[in-house]
Amino acid sequence: MKEEALRKLLEDMSLEEKVYQLVQYQGANYAEDAALTGALEQDHITRRGLELAGSTLCIWGADKLRKIQDACMAVQPHHIPMLFMLDVIHGHRTAFPCPLGLAATFSPEVVEEGAAVAARESAADGIHVTFAPMADLCRDARWGRCMESSGEDPFLNGQMAAAMVRGFQGADLHSPEHIAACVKHFAGYGAAEAGRDYQNVELSEHTLREYYLTGYQAAIDAGAKMVMSAYHTYNGIPCTGNRWLLKDILREELGFDGLLISDYRSVGEMVPHGYCEDYAQAAKAAMEAGVDVDMEGRSYAGNLQKLVEGGFIPMERVDEAVWRVLKLKNDLGLFEDPYHGASEERSRQVQLCPDHRAAARKAAAASAVLLKNEGILPLQPGKIAFIGPYARHQDLRSAWSFSARAEDCVSLEEGAKASPELAGWQLRFASGCTMLDNHTRLAIGGYESSSFEEENQALLREAEEAARWADAVVLCLGEHRLQSGEAASRVSLHLPEIQQKLLYGVLAWNPNTAVLVFSGRPLVLEKESRAKALLACWLPGSEGGPGIVDVLTGKVCPGGKLPMSFPRQEGQLPMSYSSYSTGRPASLTPETDYASRYLDCGNDPLYPFGYGLSYTDFTLTPVCLSSREMRKGETITAWTELTNTGEVTGTEVVQLYLQDLAGSRVRPVKALKGFRKISLAPGETARVEFAITEEMLRFYTGENQWASEPGWFRVMLGTDSRVTEGPCFLLKE
Ligand code: BGC
Repeated sequence: MKEEALRKLLEDMSLEEKVYQLVQYQGANYAEDAALTGALEQDHITRRGLELAGSTLCIWGADKLRKIQDACMAVQPHHIPMLFMLDVIHGHRTAFPCPLGLAATFSPEVVEEGAAVAARESAADGIHVTFAPMADLCRDARWGRCMESSGEDPFLNGQMAAAMVRGFQGADLHSPEHIAACVKHFAGYGAAEAGRDYQNVELSEHTLREYYLTGYQAAIDAGAKMVMSAYHTYNGIPCTGNRWLLKDILREELGFDGLLISDYRSVGEMVPHGYCEDYAQAAKAAMEAGVDVDMEGRSYAGNLQKLVEGGFIPMERVDEAVWRVLKLKNDLGLFEDPYHGASEERSRQVQLCPDHRAAARKAAAASAVLLKNEGILPLQPGKIAFIGPYARHQDLRSAWSFSARAEDCVSLEEGAKASPELAGWQLRFASGCTMLDNHTRLAIGGYESSSFEEENQALLREAEEAARWADAVVLCLGEHRLQSGEAASRVSLHLPEIQQKLLYGVLAWNPNTAVLVFSGRPLVLEKESRAKALLACWLPGSEGGPGIVDVLTGKVCPGGKLPMSFPRQEGQLPMSYSSYSTGRPASLTPETDYASRYLDCGNDPLYPFGYGLSYTDFTLTPVCLSSREMRKGETITAWTELTNTGEVTGTEVVQLYLQDLAGSRVRPVKALKGFRKISLAPGETARVEFAITEEMLRFYTGENQWASEPGWFRVMLGTDSRVTEGPCFLLKE
């Protein structure tokens, strides 16, 4: 539709129509046969409201959504189509690794491809918008939603968020292959105090701007059509009512001009927050802060019209918000095709098709991070026992998998049995123990079994027999998929006790053991790291089994890198490789002197950011610089030569870290500014270059200023964040 016609449409709409364009209801309110469920006169939900609502969330299926679209458009006075939104977080029917696992690929290409597959599948099922990427920087593994993040580093975060937006949205949103992206949760949600979900966030403006806004900015620059506000409080004000965040920062500074939606019920939650007295006040606060759409609209519906009629909210503000809704519908081409190309036939063709499964398998293999290997991986021919709850467990999805199904996942057992590389080997599979301890609390409720003891005794006996029989054991441990995700914060990041008991047994019965850890977050793995090999597998998705088996057999050489540090103990959290130094850095102070350290644990993590081994070896030559001086506007080049000195082809991620040695604001000890993933055959060498621009040296100097300052900068090129050595150059005025 031409912009002029769209403007005309807006002018023609009644206030009631406008208000409902800003209301989004749960899809569960719409019945299967597309008749509205009716009788919903609770929490402001009326049948008319449902029919007039501008969008809905959390339902999918081409036929179902087409019927709902038809039914609502028939009633809507201007026949305005509805938007269908869903959390398509790491795949739709074909699940890819969870976002933290995707970030471990250090491959924006893999991430973009995963988002493109998810867009194709979900669009065929009638979806127009996904609530992704989640660009919340996260440095505290206690927070369950680090599973949905790309970890602790702003640069990596930005790269991955932008890649997701490109994959979802493509070049043309009219295309039935693509959907709109909604970056979330604005802003700083990943820094919840003590890692407890929904908690207050205490971040200085400096830290917020310099580290936490980068990911959202990258997604916005990549063209994300929507932004979602967050649940928490920042600076004493809930984000959903926070004008400074949503107007001054998001609109004015980050330049976002798309549609802003609240998080689920977060408008109304300003009441229990103690910021508003009732839903009417909450609606006013959110509208004034710039929130356009009320997700699960309990506050806008029923209040907004009265607020406008009473003169409390200007009509212009409503028009502005409605315009953004209409604009998004138009950008998606919904006025021409309200179904956006969705059909059952198209859905049948694309869901879980071989190409999508192949992409998911590649991503699962690329996400695996080899943390330790004393020569037992890849597996050698012989008798192999796959032991542990994840050996046979089929559900390799994350908590954010509305549309992907457990029964479509391929387990490790199935993957191993189908692997041509393992053909002719002797394989045994034993669960070894239950996934969870008895009485474990999950976000969705409890886990309890009356036969827990007997069941585990039998499983342990079976495991012992298999371990003693085998030449090598692959011990498959991990978190339950619902132990990470929303509302899944934990203070203990150890594996369940019952799994630790199995670990001790297996290590004693067969020291030739490789431990696989499935998780949505960094875990404390000191005990597990005593095994000969340790592989982080995340929550690897529909093709997790075959993808991980590809790594175990050496069909794929592991190349993943940690997107978050793995702590030695929970007490070290939050942590990041990119912290500030102190006046008393532990590394420069004798053990007995006062320094910034713990008495009972080192400062360093067990496995650092950017770390991951390979089946081959790489060497890097010392860093060379094209010049030891730089002026503003100039670029210098840093390079190294990377050689594969081992015996198999493998990939390495060369990482560029910079340190500003002194600044008017203290600078981190190092910060990632670039990376390259390079594949080399044995004996092969590649020159790996990075351009260093003055822009990369800028930081938030205060008072709205981003600037670089003249002085010395260290350049480090390494294969993980532990690198410290590198030449310096001088930035001149
Ligand atoms: C989450 C959002 C999500 C929304 C809709 C909320 O609870 O915080 O990330 O997009 O639900 O499912």
